[in-house]
Amino acid sequence: MEKKNARFETEVVHHGYDSSIYHGSLAPPIFQTSTFSFQTAEQGEKRFAGEEEGYIYSRLGNPTVKMLEDRIAALENGEAGLAFGSGMAAVSAVLIALTRSNGHILCSQGIYGCTFGLLQLLKNKYEVEHSFCSMQTEAEIKDAIRPETTCIYIETPINPTMALIDIELVVSIAKEYGIKVVVDNTFCSPYLQQPLDIGCDIIIHSATKYIGGHGDVIAGLIVGSKEMIQEISMTTLKDIGGVMSPFDAWLLIRGLKTLHVRMDRHCDNAEYVIEQLRGHEAIESVFYPSDKNNPSYSIMKKQMKRGGGLISFTIKGGKAEAQKLLNELNLIKIAVSLGDAETLIQHPATMTHAVVPKENREQMGITDNLIRLSVGLEAKEDIWDDLKQALDKIA
Ligand SMILES: Cc1ncc(COP(=O)(O)O)c(C=O)c1O
Repeated sequence: MEKKNARFETEVVHHGYDSSIYHGSLAPPIFQTSTFSFQTAEQGEKRFAGEEEGYIYSRLGNPTVKMLEDRIAALENGEAGLAFGSGMAAVSAVLIALTRSNGHILCSQGIYGCTFGLLQLLKNKYEVEHSFCSMQTEAEIKDAIRPETTCIYIETPINPTMALIDIELVVSIAKEYGIKVVVDNTFCSPYLQQPLDIGCDIIIHSATKYIGGHGDVIAGLIVGSKEMIQEISMTTLKDIGGVMSPFDAWLLIRGLKTLHVRMDRHCDNAEYVIEQLRGHEAIESVFYPSDKNNPSYSIMKKQMKRGGGLISFTIKGGKAEAQKLLNELNLIKIAVSLGDAETLIQHPATMTHAVVPKENREQMGITDNLIRLSVGLEAKEDIWDDLKQALDKIA
């Protein structure tokens, strides 16, 4: 990884790219190749033996993808990064790397629906156990740790209830027990939260979201120590093969250049919308990390720069009213995913978390009247006008 030497806002634009090597091309080249030729058979032998640096085959490494991996590592203040074909490819590579049969994963009470599905698969096929914990107190976390726990896996803010977990608290306990801590940092991006600085071992991104920022790529990234990333690269990534394409890496390098500007605008718009929502008669409650009434507010001040672009809220009513609200919208798109320029709305109980059994969903706070909004980059007044006219119809 290239030495980090500039402020975040400069690193997102420049880190790891020297245009003079590429004819002065301002945009980095896309090395759209599956393989790399060797000058001699001996050179091929040396590269395979790890005795000479250089590319072999794009599943094992590609220059455009490497540029992105180095840049995300610098932005997360980690030693090394690794790119995957989707956020779930990244999640599964990390969980496979950090678990063993008859081992145990301790998870935050709310996690992304497909991560929940993966945990079920690991349990049913490979006897990797898991359990959930709200992780709000030291006693609660210590009680939930088992002798066979190898990994603590958290999302904070929790998808989609916006509750936060104190990363420092989790890390301090995990270190006592010699357990690795993984944080899914998708909702924050490195601009709002840097869990490696707090002591966690690996961070994961669904780069599909704020890193890409334009809703045109599915991708995953992880960052951690050189040793751990090298191990995952040469085992789960290489042999299972969920790699990122060079073109997708290029899209993400492009998306990253505006991350800081976009994130601030997402936050500005979300703060405005949450204030408006609070006063509407159809609303039961609102959930947003930097809301002073949020029970996690003090944690937010400790570990996040701002509240982020995601809001969730409950309406008075149930599934029928929630679906009617979505159907009444004009500007706001009904879609899962988040972090795009467009404001997106979804109904977690029947969409992102539909695979989670109702009982688990309710423990996660995902009720039938909960709605999640990924606040986009449109004029904040236009976002609110659309939401308001739909809320008025269900009030
Ligand atoms: C928090 C979180 N983690 C991981 C994922 C999976 O990412 P992908 O859809 O890129 O595979 C998602 C997708 O929505 C997510 O919201």
